[in-house]
Amino acid sequence: MSDAFAEIAKIGVVPVIAIESIDHAVPLADALLEGGLGVAEITFRTEAAADVMALLSDKRPELLLGAGTVLNPDQVKRAVSAGAAFALAPGFDPAVVEAAEAASLPFAPGIMTPSDISLATARGCRLMKFFPATPAGGPSMLKNISAPFAHLQAKFIPTGGVTLDTIADWLSLPEIAAVGGTWIAKAEDMRAGDWQAIAAKARAAVARARE
Ligand code: 3PG
Repeated sequence: MSDAFAEIAKIGVVPVIAIESIDHAVPLADALLEGGLGVAEITFRTEAAADVMALLSDKRPELLLGAGTVLNPDQVKRAVSAGAAFALAPGFDPAVVEAAEAASLPFAPGIMTPSDISLATARGCRLMKFFPATPAGGPSMLKNISAPFAHLQAKFIPTGGVTLDTIADWLSLPEIAAVGGTWIAKAEDMRAGDWQAIAAKARAAVARARE
């Protein structure tokens, strides 16, 4: 596992963030850091994503910064130039895996079925995002679909419907590297400037992951 993903596995939780404004970048990073959560996945679901990553890699280098919703090779390039240390995607696209490899960017493609895992592991991936984790069947689904690949020592980051209350169920599986989700840094809290709410959710998530 790359250094970035090993660090994520140590932390246990990745906040998935759709950030709407560059003005939210530093207060958001400070709220996460105040909550003891030193990692952020900034998704390419908003226009601001690349600028936010570039600003944070400059102003808050202590935050382990990743790019999420990386859907094409161009976004791999943009993530790398913005200083992202890792990237994830909701699905498996060999062109994105190749671009990330060429850029030496640690990358976890998304999977939801045994066929997806088959394709991704054949392409050399050993860390995958299980998405959408909860609607797809939760921990027991992941346990079942990953069993035939256990000898490859593949690990997974479930996201999609994960909450504070389900962190422990997920992390009890040895196949899970960390969990991810948007519940920690909600768009409405960022819009309202409620950084304390985000710090509190980050703190609670870190505590739950440590238990
Ligand atoms: C992701 O991209 O990882 C998911 O959309 C997160 O899903 P959630 O909003 O249910 O946490």
